[in-house]
Amino acid sequence: MSKTNKLTIGLFGFGVVGEGIYQVLQQTPSLNATIKKVCIKDPLKKRSIPDELLTTDPMLILNDPEINIVVELINHASDAYAIVTTALRKKKAVLSANKAMIAEHLGELLQLQKLYDVPLLYEAAVCGSIPIIRNLEEYYDNDLLQGVCGIVNGSTNYILTKLIDEKMEYKTALLQAQANGFAETDPTLDVKGFDAVNKLTILLLHSYGIITSPLKLLHAGIDRIHAHDALFAASKNWQIKLTAQAKKLSESKVAAFVLPQFVTQESQLFGVRNEYNGVVLQSSFADKQFLYGKGAGRYPTASAVLSDISALRFDYRYEYRKYHRAVTGSVLCNDYFLCLYVSFDAISDIALQDFELIEEFRTHPERSYVVGIISYAKLLRSTWVALPTVSIIVCPDGVIENMEALSLKKKSLELAGVKFKEPVKEAIDLIE
Ligand code: HSE
Repeated sequence: MSKTNKLTIGLFGFGVVGEGIYQVLQQTPSLNATIKKVCIKDPLKKRSIPDELLTTDPMLILNDPEINIVVELINHASDAYAIVTTALRKKKAVLSANKAMIAEHLGELLQLQKLYDVPLLYEAAVCGSIPIIRNLEEYYDNDLLQGVCGIVNGSTNYILTKLIDEKMEYKTALLQAQANGFAETDPTLDVKGFDAVNKLTILLLHSYGIITSPLKLLHAGIDRIHAHDALFAASKNWQIKLTAQAKKLSESKVAAFVLPQFVTQESQLFGVRNEYNGVVLQSSFADKQFLYGKGAGRYPTASAVLSDISALRFDYRYEYRKYHRAVTGSVLCNDYFLCLYVSFDAISDIALQDFELIEEFRTHPERSYVVGIISYAKLLRSTWVALPTVSIIVCPDGVIENMEALSLKKKSLELAGVKFKEPVKEAIDLIE
């Protein structure tokens, strides 16, 4: 798209974000971008825009040669896929916020952009208003990025804040997240960690040039966090946050997962509350950098779409340089260890022998817990991890990159006076 081109937009979806972008564009005349048509599903629903803008026929947008930008803001992932791929084939620039669709089809979407020489931008798909993708693409276009750890889902962070800080009931907090327009239409996508793992999949491409499927990444949400876990965190002055992590291990190996995590007061994520998101980027020389902003909601998300529209003015597109030079580059790896806190109702819920070592173990008639180190590969294979009665939380600095690091950790714990026991023996002791 040349600099002189008029931006004529075909918008799909007029929900929370769609309406937001319509309103935001009215207030940004300098962008000289006009919405020509809005494709909606339900023609009977009352809308706050002139009727002549509305259509239920997607082809009225997709076949209109004057429309050079398609903004896709619908919920349904397979409909979004059809719209986005058709628009790219028709050589229209596309903006999308559909993280599930993008994460699932990354490889194909890259190919289509190349084949038809058109951009697909999706800053709004990850962390709402935070410009994380463009930062990873442009500023961190090198191999110095050691890790990315972020709160990438606004709804779950909102719910955790209300539950833990304000002692609100889970149901009320979820209803509020929905009423505020933060949650997905199906909020289980938020609370079970699916939304966060979709976002992590996109982050992996822009951080390390890795294309994978969200299905291959271990993820859990906040729905199994127990009141006793919150008490445990409070006793240490920690917060519980749902984080998406990608961490460079030795050589070109990368660890990646979405799990609840304890964060200490020293962590930049500690003070991220409500629908805010925050991402800590760890680089080799600059140490830590932190991006913070609203991760969900009408205007924060619309602001990211607006920024993408504006970027199209100067023909911006993702170059995916890390992916293209990744022939011998980064790969996902399961060969590392995690230090976990696991709470459960009954000892039979978990397999203590799966742990490499156990640092702490408390049994209680209501809720017991273990703190220990476990191989990530073993965790992926184990069935107890997904039980509704089991809650798993990563300990601070809980990624242990290899056996050598595990031995070092063991030694430092011993020096600190921790008397851990061999897991199998512990299991037997308990049964006795
Ligand atoms: N449901 C998402 C969230 C919306 O809560 O973060 C923004 O992607």
